[in-house]
This record gives sequence, C-alpha cells and structure tokens, in this order.
Amino acid sequence: MDSRLDRRDFMKRAGIGAVTAGMALTGASARVLGANDRVRVGLIGAGRQGTDDMKDFALQPDAEIVAVCDVYQPNLDKALAAAGGQAQSYKDFRQVLDRKDIDVVIVGTPDHWHALAMVEACKAGKDVYVEKPICCAIDEGKVMVDAARKHQRVVQVGTQQRSATHFQEAVTLVQQGYLGKVSFVRTWNYDNEYPQGIGTPADSDPPSGLDWDAWLGPAPKRPFNANRFGVSDRWSTFRYFWDYAGGFMTDWGIHLMDIVQWAMQVDGPDAIAAAGGRFFIEDNAETPDTLQVTYQYPHFVATYENRWDNANSMYDHGYGIEFHGTDATMFVDRGGFEVFPETRPAAPGSKRLNNRAPSMKMEACNNDHYDHIRNFLDCVKSRQRPISDIEIGHRSTSVCLLGNVAYRSQQRVVWDVAKQQIREGNSGAEQYLARHYREPWTLQA
Ligand SMILES: NC(=O)c1ccc[n+]([C@@H]2O[C@H](COP(=O)([O-])OP(=O)(O)OC[C@H]3O[C@@H](n4cnc5c(N)ncnc54)[C@H](O)[C@@H]3O)[C@@H](O)[C@H]2O)c1
Repeated sequence: MDSRLDRRDFMKRAGIGAVTAGMALTGASARVLGANDRVRVGLIGAGRQGTDDMKDFALQPDAEIVAVCDVYQPNLDKALAAAGGQAQSYKDFRQVLDRKDIDVVIVGTPDHWHALAMVEACKAGKDVYVEKPICCAIDEGKVMVDAARKHQRVVQVGTQQRSATHFQEAVTLVQQGYLGKVSFVRTWNYDNEYPQGIGTPADSDPPSGLDWDAWLGPAPKRPFNANRFGVSDRWSTFRYFWDYAGGFMTDWGIHLMDIVQWAMQVDGPDAIAAAGGRFFIEDNAETPDTLQVTYQYPHFVATYENRWDNANSMYDHGYGIEFHGTDATMFVDRGGFEVFPETRPAAPGSKRLNNRAPSMKMEACNNDHYDHIRNFLDCVKSRQRPISDIEIGHRSTSVCLLGNVAYRSQQRVVWDVAKQQIREGNSGAEQYLARHYREPWTLQA
C-alpha cells in the first residue's frame, strides 16, 4: 500500500509548529529584516558543500550572495563565478564578519574551523548556517550553543534531512507507535575501497594559491599533505584525519543518528561501546576502516556500522536506518521509506497487536536542501528557532563524537546526558571531549 500523509495534518501531529512556538529569539540581526527584505549572505569555506549551499541560497527569491571567502584561491575563484559575479572575495573570514551589511554567513569550511567561525559570526551579530558535524569535540559544541543563545542568533545546522517530507513522516510514524515498541535501531555506511583507500601521498609543498597555515587554523601545525587538505575530484579527504574531523562516524553518522534521536525523542545515549580498527585499507588516513558502535539508550539499543572493505549491504543501499519495532520494521534513507509488517504471528491472547501496521512506503518528494535553507531564512526574519537549531545539531554531533571517544579510548563510556559529562570511571576517555587550539586562536562565546 502506498501512503501519502496529508502534510498539514502531519505538521500538526508532529508538533513542528510547536517546535518553534514560545522560542522566539528577541535579538535583532545586524539589520532588522522585514518579510520582504533581501537577506545578504556571505560564504566562508567555498569548497564543494559550501558552494552547493550558496547556490541554494542564491535560488531563494529573497537572498543575495555578497561575499565569498576561502583560503584556497582556485576554490575562491570557482565560487565567485558561481555567485554570479556580484560578490566580493576574501581570504580572511574576519573581514566578512566585519561587514555590517551582511546578515547571514554560511560556514562550509572543514569541521575543525566550524566552531570558531560560527562563534565569531554570532559575536559579530550574524545569523549562521553551519555545516554538519558542527565541531570536532563536544566541548566546542557547548560553546557554540552558548554563543547562539548569548548573542540571540538564529543558527541552522546543515542536517537537511530534517526538512525532507518523507523523513518527517517516517519520524512521525515511529513516534506514533506505528511500528509498535522500538527496541533496536541499526544505522550503517558500507563501501569497498580496498586496498588503496585514499592512497598515501608524501608530505610536500602546498599547491599554489593555498594558505596552508590559515587552512590549519586552530589545528596543530603540520607539514602539508595532499590527503590532509583533501581537495580533489572526490569528497575532500580531511574527513579521515582526527585533527580536522572524525571519519565516517561523524561525517555520515550524524545524518543517520540525527534521525534516530529525533524519531526516538532522546538527546543522547547513556553508554557507548565501540570496536574497530584500520584493518585492510592501505592509506595514510587515521580514522578506522571498520567500526561498530553500540549505543545504550533507556529503552532501546542503536548501532552505527562502517565498513570500507566490503560493500555488501541490506536493501541494496550502502547506507540507511532500520527501526525494529514489535509490530513492524522500517527502512529509511534519502530515497524514501518502507514499512515491513512483523511476520511472526502473535501468540493467542498476547498483548501484541500482530500486523497492526500495514506495509507502507513513501518516496522522497521535496528538495530538502532548498527547503532547509528556506526554513532558515524564514527564521532569520521571524527570529524563531529553525528546524535544525544549533542545540539539536549539537546533540546529533555529540552522539557521533561519543562513538569516536569510545573507539579511541577503547573504553565503554558511561555518559550523563543531562550534564553532558562522562560519569566517573572513564579517565582515559575525558581527553577526547576537548580540543587544544593552536595560538593565537581561542574559542569563547
Ligand atoms: N550537509 C551535507 O549533506 C554535507 C555534505 C558534504 C559536506 N558537508 C560538510 O561541509 C563541510 C565542507 O566539506 P567539503 O567536502 O565541501 O570540504 P571542501 O574541502 O571541499 O571545502 C572546504 C573549503 O573550506 C576552505 N577553508 C578552510 N579553512 C578556511 C578558512 N579559515 N576560511 C575560509 N575557507 C577555509 C578550504 O580551502 C575549502 O575550499 C564539512 O564540514 C562537511 O562535513 C555537509
């Protein structure tokens, strides 16, 4: 049975109106914007995703790209051309923040720069669209939330699946109990890059047009390596080095665990255990090629799995989310969702309502990335919190960072969700909650 839920009805049931109600931000933007005003946008980090973000901002009827900033001239030139030639170019993001006529900045840098650029933008009175994952260490995320609140800024995180109609409907079904009681959720990314992975280039001089020291910013000083910088014709490979990111666990895991925590209405796990390693891929990356993380939540278990040396997958999809309930199972990814009723009959007289959930499927039907930016711009004007508000993005980033904390410390991490602290007894894990910033950079809300 193919089912489309009525969207307005769904929004009501999902409480999406209520997400923003009562949370209006009183702070004004650098300029107070009316419904018909054009929003002036600056891009910081004009690589592949930043430029894609900028293009969908430019397509909105009320946004105008006025500044583009990058420390790598070839990317700056490309993005400037894509911006339509009206924007000014910069190499130092602080000059973008100094411009009083800019309302909004997009932060599309590698992850290790997100926190600083976002926090400084908040201090400068800008609203921010910051890419996921929001940071590299949980302590940075706390400062980011503080900065948004202290300076009363609207901050949307680039977890655009929250703006996909079919994800919203899938989440509502889980929350309404359509699958019965959900006790197990599986998430995964599988691929096969054996044996070469991303290769092993030697350290070298940086390419012309790159300010390597500015690219490193708050991260430790290192000789240039093409994989650490990572810009090439594939997704940039900085993702696989601890100084700048957290591997697949944070890069992709956040898109999956964000939906899990939303659907299951939780802010974080109580305990995290991980097993994995760099087993077979022969490259100079640091993050594991094989990883399994198990999350203990109050009433269910969730797992995240990543394999880089075998692409065999479930449902023939290299990534996805599976919710297992007492009445049905749901598979969901960016293409749509499908509900499979439980086949094992309920025992006579049992409390279980067997096959209560008829099979159901729905295909993706909107441009979530465009709509995510629309939601942000509407909130910039209304001063409401957006659908992927920074606090939500922080919690979705944290669950993934905790997977890496468990992996790197080789400890079962017991987590206090409310206090956002490791409980006693995990002394080896503490060190991974914070990052040391290279001088002269400091992070302060
Ligand atoms: N929302 C999504 O679905 C999605 C998809 C892909 C990537 N992303 C995120 O987008 C971010 C960028 O990823 P990417 O693959 O586009 O990387 P990329 O390497 O292509 O782009 C990053 C750019 O930032 C520039 N940069 C570095 N330091 C800078 C600084 N101080 N000031 C200005 N520019 C600076 C780099 O030179 C580069 O051009 C990452 O955080 C990634 O996780 C999100």
